[in-house]
Amino acid sequence: MIRIHDLTKAYPKARDGRGSPVTAVDRVCLTIDRGEVFTLLGPNGAGKTTLVKILSTLILPTSGTATVNGHDILTQPTRVRASIGFSPGGERSFYFRLTGRQNLEFFGALQGLRPPLLHQRISEVLDQLGLEEEADKRFMKYSSGMRRRLGIARALLTDPPVLLLDEPTASVDPASARHIREHIRELKAQGRTILLTTHNMDEAERISDRIGILNKGRLIAVDTPANLRGILHQCRLRLAVRNWGEDPPRFIGALRSISGVAAVYEGNPSLEVIMTQKEFVTSEVVRLIVEHGVEVESITTCEPSLEDIFLTLTGGETSRV
Ligand SMILES: Nc1ncnc2c1ncn2[C@@H]1O[C@H](COP(=O)(O)OP(=O)(O)O)[C@@H](O)[C@H]1O
Ligand SMILES: [Mg+2]
Repeated sequence: MIRIHDLTKAYPKARDGRGSPVTAVDRVCLTIDRGEVFTLLGPNGAGKTTLVKILSTLILPTSGTATVNGHDILTQPTRVRASIGFSPGGERSFYFRLTGRQNLEFFGALQGLRPPLLHQRISEVLDQLGLEEEADKRFMKYSSGMRRRLGIARALLTDPPVLLLDEPTASVDPASARHIREHIRELKAQGRTILLTTHNMDEAERISDRIGILNKGRLIAVDTPANLRGILHQCRLRLAVRNWGEDPPRFIGALRSISGVAAVYEGNPSLEVIMTQKEFVTSEVVRLIVEHGVEVESITTCEPSLEDIFLTLTGGETSRV
């Protein structure tokens, strides 16, 4: 449904104030199947918005191309636009003084919808996103969750087979985020292909058929949540060691042999244990500390950050001791 071939977008001057060149999207290749919910996961600045904007024909790539619903973004942009609904990520994508309904009338008309079909589609999408009661309130009075839902409603106006949703749950509370996820599931059940972006790992895990991890413009992993979970669910145990006991190598060796320990990184005076089974490993580590006469100042556990996952996936950990 979406095929991305070696897509690159380079900006000669970044917006970081220093004005150095930046490759926002770097040689990305990806195929997204019909009916799939695919999430691009990455931190701010990873290139998610740039990639989605290229697919929606809002900006041109520097090189490479893509097809959406069988149409090439470079040579058939009008057909691509007829196949997609795009929900931009920014807060400024609607007119604040207009009501939700008036905004949809405006954007629907821009997309070529005329009355009476325009009004029929507006009431259908408002109903689908649960916004009928709020439809005649001004956009500026909308909560973040309502704003995001109106964004999806707008993307649905032309009843497109492909939806591109840039950060559909950014800055909304957990309950609203759950509602939005339910709407996205309904849209998938209707047979639509959905590409969405997020910087939230849990979010990506909950909703996606597959996840693509984007880092500095490069797609560094593409897989199902279940397959990525092995990496995503790693957790660290950090020990601040005061006294290493009688036989430090034997202690470290014993830590490494605990089942559920993926790796042990020795530092001085700290030690990091990367584990895949938190509860069991933590109690085993405590047992070994006592058994080997090791004295520790603190033991802390930390969930992996996106950065940890990136480091793992990009091999960043090989440089650690
Ligand atoms: N118009 C632009 N001019 C210069 N640099 C840009 C422009 N748009 C985006 N960038 C840069 O490209 C990179 C990717 O940005 P973006 O696609 O917005 O990332 P994300 O959506 O993942 O946060 C960032 O370094 C950003 O500063
Ligand atoms: Mg973005």
